[in-house]
Amino acid sequence: MKISKIISREVLDSRGLPTLKTYIVLSDGTNASAQVPSGASTGIHEALELRDKEKRYLGKGVLKAIKNVSLIEKALKNKNVFDQEELDKTMCELDDTENKTKLGANAILSVSLAAARAASVAAKMPLYKYLRKAFNLKEKDFILPCPMLNIINGGVHADSGLNIQEFMIVPTKQKTFSKALQASSEVYHTLKNILTQNGLATSIGDEGGFAPKLKTHEEAFKLLLKATAAAGYPNMSFALDCAASEFYKEAFYFFEGKKLSYKELSDIYSNFARNFPIISIEDPFEQDDWQAWEYFQKQAGKVNIVGDDLFATNLERLELGIERKAANSILIKLNQLGTLSQTIKVVYKAKKAGLSTIISHRSGETEDSFIADLAVAVNSGAIKAGAPARSERLAKYNRLLEIEAELGPKAIFAKDMAFKRK
Ligand code: PGA
Ligand code: ZN
Repeated sequence: MKISKIISREVLDSRGLPTLKTYIVLSDGTNASAQVPSGASTGIHEALELRDKEKRYLGKGVLKAIKNVSLIEKALKNKNVFDQEELDKTMCELDDTENKTKLGANAILSVSLAAARAASVAAKMPLYKYLRKAFNLKEKDFILPCPMLNIINGGVHADSGLNIQEFMIVPTKQKTFSKALQASSEVYHTLKNILTQNGLATSIGDEGGFAPKLKTHEEAFKLLLKATAAAGYPNMSFALDCAASEFYKEAFYFFEGKKLSYKELSDIYSNFARNFPIISIEDPFEQDDWQAWEYFQKQAGKVNIVGDDLFATNLERLELGIERKAANSILIKLNQLGTLSQTIKVVYKAKKAGLSTIISHRSGETEDSFIADLAVAVNSGAIKAGAPARSERLAKYNRLLEIEAELGPKAIFAKDMAFKRK
């Protein structure tokens, strides 16, 4: 099936800032689209998100990227939409830079995802099944990922005063995905009541989690403990995304008003993990502070150590991380890299090396639910898509509910599959 047309338009994301919505029309008339997300705590090793840097939208317009989609259209017109790897390769060659600085990773990714979606429609297959076929993935079952829901927001996503960016609940003990989502929603609303009772704000951050003004991180954990117990889920686990590159400066970490070495910060994290049911810690250190990661990986025992800014969904950085034993899990973000084919390669490289994989949204999101299908296609075992609130976050969870219903008894819930450590 041939690609006959590619059109891209500027639309707004969940922060009200421009992003691309790209449509692909096929020779049989099939028309499908995809939208790309955008980060705020963006790592320095990520592929380039091309912004206009002109007056409109405070420099954040994406009209240049949209223009580049017309260049991509010329290169992809009449190509077979079912050959995703060839499409992605052609775009990478057209760009011909390491970090997609010429065309923009946002331009390229919008086409890459729209092509896969159009192909799945033309093949009359749900996207998650189509992806398995298109990439010849040898997965046996269909595993619904365990959601990691960020219900207290800090760092650059909120003005709560917390250094740690995300406090997540992880419902690993539930029997099904829908029960896990229900439990999480109940905890979220119970937390809201607890915040109100304590005179704390219930305003929310970029990913739908609450952003109460707290003095210490310990207070946040205590609130989570209260909320999970009061909601009737005392066994629920927690996860953190420290996004530590944001509070690192010249070899030190500025945490809770103190200037800390990586060893001192490691001790604080280890204490948190001893006192609270934390099963996963993302970006505990700066993205190039490899010695800190190696040190902590040795100390942390059973905790999942996740590389987000560290790996930037980049194959070379992942290989280096595997060699240096810097982390035991990888966060996968499509727009850190820019094509679907390259992303799937990174997922399988990680899996082969024994790292667990977490498919992730960005803080700036859209109603596109592509990552839900991707998580099931590759059996990632976990997905990070924000709080159980706000439609751009719920689009992903609701799509997973739909997939779960469609699979019926064939749907397996991942539970703690992504967090099991010997
Ligand atoms: P970002 O945050 O999308 O702002 O980078 C998400 C994360 O750090 O995981
Ligand atoms: Zn992160």
